Amino acid sequence: MGNDLDHVLFTEDQIHARLEELAAEIWADYEGKDVLLVGVLKGAILVMADLMRALPGSAPMDWMAVSSYGSGTKSSGVVRILKDLDTDISGRHVLIVEDIIDSGLTLNWICSNLRSREPASLEICTLLRKPDAAKVDIDCRYVGFDIPNEFVVGYGLDYDERYRNLRDIGTLAPHVYL
Ligand code: PRP
Ligand code: MN
Ligand code: MG
Repeated sequence: MGNDLDHVLFTEDQIHARLEELAAEIWADYEGKDVLLVGVLKGAILVMADLMRALPGSAPMDWMAVSSYGSGTKSSGVVRILKDLDTDISGRHVLIVEDIIDSGLTLNWICSNLRSREPASLEICTLLRKPDAAKVDIDCRYVGFDIPNEFVVGYGLDYDERYRNLRDIGTLAPHVYL
């Protein structure tokens, strides 16, 4: 599996160290508020697992699963809900937890959907962001790392559902998809 990587962008240790910093920042910002962590399946599973364990106190968690319409592999911006939240977020402080903002279309849709439910606040925490790939402007409060516009896998990020279980994040070697 490691042979399928071209180069490593972030090691497991680097990822954990950055998530520790973000967790401390989040905990300070939400002092006195009950923040609800909302993960986006499936890519965010490992970010959620490590971010929430890096928080100094307890925070509830919920999940959404969404899918783009059509057969394309990349998000079209037209999204449907596969699994909705179990929680009524009206009046709640919601922090969306994501692995990556690529075009931004997925989160753009999720944010406007969640905003219509009138949460007390809505913010985003993403481990990775690709500024050069942005098709819409996403106001993201917590960003782990900005990365170049390359296809990356590992730590929850997949290529055709594979490589999510890599501990590091890296670019895929061309032989995998050529
Ligand atoms: C990936 C990633 C983000 C989204 C980012 O999810 O986990 O959720 O794409 O892309 P965008 O900014 O261009 O919309 P994907 O749809 O591949 O589902 P997955 O999380 O199950 O891998
Ligand atoms: Mn995803
Ligand atoms: Mg994916």
